[in-house]
Amino acid sequence: MAESRSFSYKGLFASNSPEPREGAIGKRGKYDFAVAYPDPKSVPLDDIVDALKGALREEGEDLAIYGNQNGYPPLREFIAQKMAKDRDIHVTPDDIIIGDGSGQPIHMICESLVDPGDVVLTEDFVYSGTLSQLRRFHADIRGVACDQDGMLPDALDSAIQRARGEGKAVKFIYTIPIFQNPQGWTMTLERRKEMVRLSQKHGVPILEDDCYVDLRYDGEPVASIHSLDDTGSVMYVGSFSKIIAPGMRLGYMTAPKEILNMARAVKGTSMASHFTSLAVHRYATGSLEGHIDEINDIQRAKRDAMVAALGENFGSSATWSRPQGGLFVWLQMPEEVDLQAIRDRVLDRADVGYQAGPLFAPDGVSGKNCARLCFGYNTPEEIHEGIAKLANAFEEEGVLSG
Ligand SMILES: Cc1ncc(COP(=O)(O)O)c(C=O)c1O
Repeated sequence: MAESRSFSYKGLFASNSPEPREGAIGKRGKYDFAVAYPDPKSVPLDDIVDALKGALREEGEDLAIYGNQNGYPPLREFIAQKMAKDRDIHVTPDDIIIGDGSGQPIHMICESLVDPGDVVLTEDFVYSGTLSQLRRFHADIRGVACDQDGMLPDALDSAIQRARGEGKAVKFIYTIPIFQNPQGWTMTLERRKEMVRLSQKHGVPILEDDCYVDLRYDGEPVASIHSLDDTGSVMYVGSFSKIIAPGMRLGYMTAPKEILNMARAVKGTSMASHFTSLAVHRYATGSLEGHIDEINDIQRAKRDAMVAALGENFGSSATWSRPQGGLFVWLQMPEEVDLQAIRDRVLDRADVGYQAGPLFAPDGVSGKNCARLCFGYNTPEEIHEGIAKLANAFEEEGVLSG
């Protein structure tokens, strides 16, 4: 039917529109190490249903009106308290905007700040969703070298100076400082202080993405970057996706007023779901802390299963991270190996999904010898099986010797 339509939109697209995208959703493997899903069996369905029922009984009629543009006020109150308690971030509920996941706040920040060609600095491999947003606004995305402690301060300093030397505007530094996606490391306190110092020195703000902060399986918490700054140079986003479920689509941002005001203007009249916010608010106030402890026990076992299985099957042929939390292990094979080229064949042959490094590379091509392996979705037994199958498939592809 669609084929026979003759109307053409050619010539109507906005001059700064992004590359069009097909709607096809990629195949998922039985051993799905490709996407950062939390444990599916632990989504607290019964408690969410009860929370929603209670909330609808109390305030369900409010669904008939368009709610507060910043998001459901009691949920913003909860978020403000959680950020103060867990991250030493002290803001009022009016300094918070709730979004459709944290992806929407990230989008709003990119749209508020980025003109085509502006430089945005990120870690050398970084969350692909943010890279897509930045590409959508035609940013000049530059990866900054990292080690296991986070971005290298000297590399960050020179990247800012180099871009400025080229006459470029440097709009912000994007970082995922805890259980970094995809590399798994956590930025040390020292590095955080250095990043804040450089941000203030150069007048380049930081966007701190704390998506995985609650998923800690061992080690000690590290202060938020936001709490180390008293000048307003840090914007902050968080999410309920990995601690309740991505399908709830709720996240949030806080930032200085001028950024919040611009983000609101960019967001227009769209609002995060009031319906979901009611459920999440009622659920979170009573049960979220206990739930986080539970899922962390489950996911710690999965992390351990993946790290052990990699040791058994990859031996000294590769290196991999052992993250203290979050949802992924970063696998590195020898330089000449191309895990991107064999990815689809491995999925067909072994039913194992993973994402190759270039998806996370600002230049879109680096890191072919790397892969992100998510351990949140499958059971520990499946993780053992899946990693063995992955190693087998790599052997068959000639990139791993048996
Ligand atoms: C680092 C990071 N930030 C943000 C997001 C977006 O999550 P959501 O929009 O579901 O809150 C993700 C999702 O995987 C992520 O890994």
